[in-house]
Amino acid sequence: MTQPYRSADIRQAFIEYFQSKQHTHVPSASLIPHNDPTLLFTNAGMNQFKDCFLGIDKRDYSRAVSAQKCVRAGGKHNDLDNVGYTARHHTFFEMLGNFSFGDYFKKDAIAFAWEFLTSKDWLGLDADRLYVTVYETDDEAYNHWHDDIGLPAERIIRIGDNKGAPYASDNFWAMGDTGPCGPCSEVFYDHGEDVEGGLPGTPEEDGDRYIEVWNCVFMQFNRQKDGTMDPLPAPSVDTGMGLERISAIIQGVHSNYEIDMFVALIDAAAKLLGIDNQGQASLKVIADHIRAVSFLIADGVIPSNEGRGYVLRRIIRRAVRHGNKLGAQDAFFYQMVAPLIEQMGAAYPQLVEQQAFIESTIEKEESQFAKTLAQGLRLLATELEQLKAGDTLSGDAAFKLYDTYGFPVDLTADIAREHDIIIDEAGFETQMEAQRQRARDAGKFDVDYSSVINTDAATEFLGYEQLQEDKASIIDVYVDGKPTKQINEGEEGILILDHTPFYAEGGGQAGEMGEIRTQTGVFSVQDTKKSGQAIIHHGVVSVGSIHVEQIAEAQVMSSIRAASAKNHSATHLLHAALRQVVGDKVQQKGSLVSSEVLRFDFSCDTPVSPEQINRIEKIVNEQIQANEATRIEHMSIEEAKQKGAMALFGEKYGDTVRVLSMGTHRYQDGIDTPFSIELCGGLHVHRTGDIGIFKITSESGIAAGIRRIEALTGMGALKYIQQGDAQLTQLAGQLKAKRPEIAQRVQNLADKQRELEKQLERLNQKLASSQAANLLDNIQNIAGHDVVIATVKGIDGKGIRPLIDDLKSKLPKAIIVLIGDKDNQLALASAVSKTLTKQIKAGDIIRHLAEQLGGKGGGKPEYAQGGAPATDNLAQVLDDLPNWLESKLAPQDS
Ligand code: SER
Repeated sequence: MTQPYRSADIRQAFIEYFQSKQHTHVPSASLIPHNDPTLLFTNAGMNQFKDCFLGIDKRDYSRAVSAQKCVRAGGKHNDLDNVGYTARHHTFFEMLGNFSFGDYFKKDAIAFAWEFLTSKDWLGLDADRLYVTVYETDDEAYNHWHDDIGLPAERIIRIGDNKGAPYASDNFWAMGDTGPCGPCSEVFYDHGEDVEGGLPGTPEEDGDRYIEVWNCVFMQFNRQKDGTMDPLPAPSVDTGMGLERISAIIQGVHSNYEIDMFVALIDAAAKLLGIDNQGQASLKVIADHIRAVSFLIADGVIPSNEGRGYVLRRIIRRAVRHGNKLGAQDAFFYQMVAPLIEQMGAAYPQLVEQQAFIESTIEKEESQFAKTLAQGLRLLATELEQLKAGDTLSGDAAFKLYDTYGFPVDLTADIAREHDIIIDEAGFETQMEAQRQRARDAGKFDVDYSSVINTDAATEFLGYEQLQEDKASIIDVYVDGKPTKQINEGEEGILILDHTPFYAEGGGQAGEMGEIRTQTGVFSVQDTKKSGQAIIHHGVVSVGSIHVEQIAEAQVMSSIRAASAKNHSATHLLHAALRQVVGDKVQQKGSLVSSEVLRFDFSCDTPVSPEQINRIEKIVNEQIQANEATRIEHMSIEEAKQKGAMALFGEKYGDTVRVLSMGTHRYQDGIDTPFSIELCGGLHVHRTGDIGIFKITSESGIAAGIRRIEALTGMGALKYIQQGDAQLTQLAGQLKAKRPEIAQRVQNLADKQRELEKQLERLNQKLASSQAANLLDNIQNIAGHDVVIATVKGIDGKGIRPLIDDLKSKLPKAIIVLIGDKDNQLALASAVSKTLTKQIKAGDIIRHLAEQLGGKGGGKPEYAQGGAPATDNLAQVLDDLPNWLESKLAPQDS
């Protein structure tokens, strides 16, 4: 074959090579890791296979190959700060990997890596430029490289525990503090003398000359919390090669940002911003960040102020700031999605399918941030001006930027760094903690039960068939997150059983509640979750005590299960009906189903209209009334997709998936298809008729481009309809009308009210003009001129003008000041005859009054108006007015 050159070809070649070695190609898992609460984002190819290494997840293959989307931002592995400033750091990258689950081990892993890298049939790299490292004591790996591959001793480097503890080494890889791990052997490529840097193990190893391209981990142990290394059921292999790094080598460039994909993205960014590409770090940042941002949104992350959503927000804001630095005036970042799709859309179709949604999500976040960016930058510039290189920016300033202007602290640090200034992160953290405490004090703080324990136990789920199981055995007990032998009355904790009927929260469905009983006690289950392969029951001992290894009876609360099943099945019907009525552009973005809640979030730019809501309700209720049996089948994911089953991006699906179909869609040509067909592991009704009734209760927007429908089923829906019905009956009674007449009657009432308001207005006018007649009684003479100063009750700004006009017609040469007083508001108005405006102007009078009454106003010399809140001060101000007028009107001594 011709040797691959473009990144896309290298990815393809890698997969084909390992397929030719009997590896199954497993698609990239979502960036949101499943069942691993300790991990923020998928950050290595092996994440999705963690349980395969531990032997608790069995697949029908023992060799796998994948190109895995990875994000290293915000979590334990955080490369965000380095992006743009080094040749090889990214927030998002693709990891090519081959895996053996108890199949081949070191010898084959090494031989495969070498063949793929050096064979002229594959990458054809110059073997003389390759170096390898092995774990110091790993003679086996050393010998394979030396004897089987023929690598000379001077190009095999042994690295021991160089990080200060046993197994803490560049050549010992572990996913985390616990879990599968083992010694590793890394392949390095020499970029040549003109690049600075030294071999691994030398002080210059961090340079860019010798770059690690491939890490082969020989998985052998399962590290326990206390540090003990339990052997894995079978030695395994996990390898990882960064696609961007290997592309740089193949394309003969020294920086990942010079490979084909990045050159295209950087050129697109420069074009968008109307500048030349001169290697600006900001262009690299934008090109890097659009990948992380687009893939995260495609996998269901939405910008927010916490967790994954906040990492996404930080990356977007950092990109926007770098755009701003390059002169961007308007939202530009979202326009990078199209060039990204040109590069990666073929390999990742979800980008293409969700293009519009990804763009609008970014654009909205960009525009929102643009509102505070300029102000925040000005504040920061002022702060930085007072400091010099080497100084520290205060935590207070960083917090203010965060809290008021939405500057994530790493964004502030990024800008400060450009001035060689660091920020007081500890000071910032102190302020943040104080804010968190305020938030905690203000509301309940949710505990994530699954994150408090980390277990390798596996539980079999029996709940599809049964609600109760009397021969479960208690395999683990946790109190305060620590394993223990016994849990006593009143204590909260976690029980793990070998098998259970309790459904663990997942696929949008809430975890179940119920009871677990043993001979010695009763445990009330309040929530059920998953941790790895274990189903964990969280709750409290209500009677006696519970012990490890006891036989238990587990009983799910049946009413709650039935209600949840109704809601869950109705969610599927709603999803299908929504797509029928609103269109295929509707993408599920999340759902929450419990015994009480049915909530469905989906992407859609416009609100769903009341007519559409009606149609959706009708369609769903038709399916309910057809009362067809729910069908559950197991099949391969490909087969399921072929059948048109809807799957959620981001959900992790095994080789065999559970496919749930409900109802029938009848086509004219006689070919019927399921009305709803979805991949789902949840609990459902047996027949659609079990749902009873379906009623939508609200439709609203919850985030940029995302809508939420809430609905009720069964008795809950009936109750809602009955309540509405009772309200109508009550209304009919109050209106003394029959129900069909209610609308007309309310309309009549509204018309009548409007008529009465008009009448009232007319009466007020009349009242005002009769007051006007009386107003003439108030004439006083100031400096030889007629002046009227008066307050009129019940008159507002609108009513005062006719009064003034009326007075003016009666007093052609005068100064008139009227104050309307209505609904706690004062309306100020003044008219001055033209001949007097040289001495005093109406606007001056109103401004003078407004100033003293705490209001505002102004106008022309002959007429001005204003307003002020009602104040006790009014009488005094009006009493003083004649003197003030006199001072203006009296001839001045010259
Ligand atoms: N898990 C190893 C790594 O991330 C090899 O894939 O480097």
